[in-house]
Amino acid sequence: MTEDTNGLLSAGTVDELRERGCTVITGGGHTIAVFAKDETFAAVDNRCPHMGFPLDRGTVKNGILTCHWHHARFDLASGGTFDPFADDVRSFPVTVIDNTVYVDPNPPERDPVERWSKRLNEGMEDNIRLVIAKSVLGLNSSPADYRTPLTIGAIFGTTYSNDGWGPALSMLTSTANFLHLLQPDDRPLALYQGLRQVATECAGQPPRFIVEPLPTGETRPEVFKQWFRDFIEVRDTDGAERVLRTTIDLDLPQREIHDIIFAAATDRIYIDAGHVVDFCNKAFELLDHIGWEHAAQVLTSLVRGMATARRSEELNSWRNPIDLVSLVWEARNALPKLWEQSASVRGTWTDHDNLPETILGDDPYITIASINEAIRNGATAEQLGGKVAYAAFLRMARFHTSNEFGDWDTVHNTLTAANALHQALDRAPSIELLRAVYDTAMSIYLDRFLNMPPQRIPGPSSNGTTDSLPRELLNAMNSQQQVEQSAKLVTDFVANASEPDDIMPTLAHAMLREDSSFHHFQIVDAAIKQYQHRKPNPSARHSLVAMARFLAAHYPTPRSVNQTYNIAVRLQRGDEIFSEA
Ligand code: FES
Repeated sequence: MTEDTNGLLSAGTVDELRERGCTVITGGGHTIAVFAKDETFAAVDNRCPHMGFPLDRGTVKNGILTCHWHHARFDLASGGTFDPFADDVRSFPVTVIDNTVYVDPNPPERDPVERWSKRLNEGMEDNIRLVIAKSVLGLNSSPADYRTPLTIGAIFGTTYSNDGWGPALSMLTSTANFLHLLQPDDRPLALYQGLRQVATECAGQPPRFIVEPLPTGETRPEVFKQWFRDFIEVRDTDGAERVLRTTIDLDLPQREIHDIIFAAATDRIYIDAGHVVDFCNKAFELLDHIGWEHAAQVLTSLVRGMATARRSEELNSWRNPIDLVSLVWEARNALPKLWEQSASVRGTWTDHDNLPETILGDDPYITIASINEAIRNGATAEQLGGKVAYAAFLRMARFHTSNEFGDWDTVHNTLTAANALHQALDRAPSIELLRAVYDTAMSIYLDRFLNMPPQRIPGPSSNGTTDSLPRELLNAMNSQQQVEQSAKLVTDFVANASEPDDIMPTLAHAMLREDSSFHHFQIVDAAIKQYQHRKPNPSARHSLVAMARFLAAHYPTPRSVNQTYNIAVRLQRGDEIFSEA
């Protein structure tokens, strides 16, 4: 029988333990396997850190304990593992007093933030999902806030990818953006999904080495801006990265650096189908979370993507049957003068409602003319970005399901690019960045056939009962192709609930329980931003309708991504996973 002596647990006499080889004791909230090892004794948590198999059923040979389920091996004395897919098993101090073996079940613990941060890095290096999940859960239970795992993921993702910023880092940043809106149990799950995606994207890639800043006496932002744009124009990654690194090292104002990056990102028309503007915007959002001190690490990771991006000038769809490239360049070239001429009325534009419908129309000349008319009438850069983003969300809200399934992504790309442009214009508007309003409006024009016929956007029912709607929404997304039903449920909730924002945790939960990808995280993030921007205008709900329709079109999935995470949750809770299996 286990006895409690001054907080120590008895594991029996020395002779008894030597004869049995191993015994299991409980106390202090632990089940502990105590082994006789050569002339000494060792005690470890009896649950294998991998998936909970009882370690007293393992084998000890030459001081190495082998678990019999997946054969993870541990140094019995320290608990350290030889197999990174498992984890170090917790060990407990053992002492012998008067021929009795005692175990201390509550030794001082290592700082949990330090421990789980280190483990998260290791899990990402080896791309081991269980270790990533356990680390995120460990940090979630520690004094650390979400920025600790987020920063680890950001540094890892921008270091161990020679290609630089990619979809996974955008997905992780989207997670951080809407994390505060999630149900508490969904927060570590969302971080896990973002971090595992970063680890997967980096797996097998060579690391990226950041160039040193120039040893220059040059400090003028306009000079760096011209250099950076010139290097991006000729696709010179090294030159552009060194210029950018120098501006950060010189501690130029953040707004100047934003301006330098977005000017180069928009010097060519709609590069990489809007992904470059989207990635640049996401990088600045990430820095809003983790701090500007990481700017050199994060922002330089954008350069390769900017320099190598495909330019829409090269695409037939932008040249024929209408030469949209020439049309956009004509508008871009006239913009500085138009902007200057309308400076005195800036901020007085009132004819807001017609522009999105015009952008959704089938005449690109009228679209460009209407944008120019809005500028002439005092529209701000942020207002123009907001109207273009709203039009892009309407395109999604009206996307007809008779289209090719893959065309959901066509509309999605434009939508996320439009949202990114709006966010960037809101953060630091510039005449160069404003040019992208024309580009993005043309991308919306190019997607026009996906609204033929247009799906009708549902109106709200007068029935004011909303309590059951979140559950009904989750049920609807549990069946295939409940696109219109999901749109209707969201509409009714947002129109009738006393707290319309309460639908957002449900929408995010619907995404997190599935095998969701970069695109799903992007649209949830973008839709929430656009909804918050437009509310309390009733049209704000259209962005959530668009999001719900996109999610419902893609769900349910096999839901395999969360299996590993759920094991980690059960291990942390102390569930007997093996006996249930
Ligand atoms: S190796 Fe022990 S449970 Fe898998």
